[in-house]
Amino acid sequence: MEPEQLIQIARETIGHAHAPYSNYKVGAALLCADGTVFTGCNVENASYGLTNCAERTAVFSAVAAGKTEFTAIAVAASKEPAPFPCGACRQVLAEFCPPGFPVYISNGGSFERVTLGGLLPNRFDLRDKRE
Ligand code: THU
Repeated sequence: MEPEQLIQIARETIGHAHAPYSNYKVGAALLCADGTVFTGCNVENASYGLTNCAERTAVFSAVAAGKTEFTAIAVAASKEPAPFPCGACRQVLAEFCPPGFPVYISNGGSFERVTLGGLLPNRFDLRDKRE
């Protein structure tokens, strides 16, 4: 799938965001190795710290459906600033995705490509401890 298509799916998911406190709505689209796409949006809460970002919503939805191999993620917001994943989302992505994993960021007509390794150098990784 082309990045533009994945970004378009992320953009379409912005409308599902529950963001009454920040009024900053985010959509994410996570491409799985088998070609399926899982979407996510930010889900805020009156107890602010319980908020879940769009990226983690997408990852958790995919994992709950039995998918753990991912090819790329697109994250879209309709206004400034650009929706670069927060630290928690970077670490959650690192649980499943390698440093070269592409992250497409969009908050308008254009998009930017970065990698997970660029966003999260020196990741904490217990991969070799897995059984
Ligand atoms: N947010 C995301 O969902 N993803 C990002 O990449 C940046 C931030 C959400 C969390 C919160 O609901 C709102 O945007 C403002 O921080």
